[in-house]
Amino acid sequence: MIIDNDMKILITGGCGFIGSNIAIFLKNKFNKLTVHSLDNLSRNSSKINLIRLKNNKIKNFKINISDKKQINLLEKYDFVIDCCAEAAVEASKYESERVFFTNLVGTFNILEKVKKDKSKIIFLSTSRVYSIKNILAKAKQINKKNYNFKINENFSKKSPISLYGFTKLSSEKLIQEYSYSDNIKYIINRFGVVSGPWQFGKQDQGFVSLWLWRFINKKKLKYIGFEGLGNQVRDVIHVKDVCDLILEQIKNFKKINNQIFNVGGGLNNAISLKELTKKAKEITGYNIDIGKIKKTSNYDIPYFVTDNKKIYSFYKWRVKRNLDNIIKDTFEVLIKYKKLFKKHEL
Ligand SMILES: NC(=O)c1ccc[n+]([C@@H]2O[C@H](COP(=O)([O-])OP(=O)(O)OC[C@H]3O[C@@H](n4cnc5c(N)ncnc54)[C@H](O)[C@@H]3O)[C@@H](O)[C@H]2O)c1
Repeated sequence: MIIDNDMKILITGGCGFIGSNIAIFLKNKFNKLTVHSLDNLSRNSSKINLIRLKNNKIKNFKINISDKKQINLLEKYDFVIDCCAEAAVEASKYESERVFFTNLVGTFNILEKVKKDKSKIIFLSTSRVYSIKNILAKAKQINKKNYNFKINENFSKKSPISLYGFTKLSSEKLIQEYSYSDNIKYIINRFGVVSGPWQFGKQDQGFVSLWLWRFINKKKLKYIGFEGLGNQVRDVIHVKDVCDLILEQIKNFKKINNQIFNVGGGLNNAISLKELTKKAKEITGYNIDIGKIKKTSNYDIPYFVTDNKKIYSFYKWRVKRNLDNIIKDTFEVLIKYKKLFKKHEL
């Protein structure tokens, strides 16, 4: 399917890191497309992204996703790309109610809208739907210098998975129920760590941009958990690779739907915090002392690397941007818009 210029797309969380990148990417590629965002601007950084959306003629509706009445007043859309969530795993421990309402009730409200409009949905899920205990057990067997273990869609989802993981896994199940009862067509992407330009990293989410920002500003950083050694590993995917994939999924939606995919940077884009420190030193030319907190949160995992076999087999899609591309592109935006980022301190 070629993208139809009359198509209307709603991006929830459109003023967030991933949502704003997808919205602007689609609008720049197909300027007649209607791209709208639903975002309550609850993150400081979303106000900056709102300016970016405005500059690209993308309208945002300032609505709380847990407000069903407001959502139902919106016009009809062909596609909903659901990027709205509180995405920080630790936040779900301390702000459980907000996370529950945003991440799970929010999905319910969006599904009711999708059902009413007979639209299609692409849902951004997470690698955190997988069992914490099983990942811990697997990580024990992994040689730290050789990240050779990849997690596919069939890996255990046994509890505990964190409240965040629960809201996302439950959202997936809800989507499948609506698909079964109301014939809603969906794609669910379980993303690993996404990074790149316009990410406002915080201690518990967005570690690549957080690292670079702290180095640029010579501010303190800490390795947290797992004895404070900085050995925890994640694979990282460039947000531009995410945008390319979403476009492929829209184009091929009629042929490929009702599927769940793991999507991540893969083995080649796997990095430990310690290794990231080295790269941050190189690109910024600065050095900072890194402290340590030995204690590990019971929500944290020491290792995650995505198995992209399924997504490749369906779309012949693979990651194009490597870690150096991710770090360079993120760094350049942080430097170029330093004043803006400072204003809404990461
Ligand atoms: N960033 C990652 O590494 C990553 C990895 C896996 C999955 N995801 C998923 O991708 C999606 C986007 O993540 P992100 O990194 O862009 O997060 P983000 O925090 O940058 O964006 C989320 C946006 O949602 C908005 N929002 C929050 N609560 C809301 C509410 N109640 N009503 C309306 N808007 C609200 C925020 O203002 C923000 O603009 C999320 O669903 C997340 O779970 C992200």
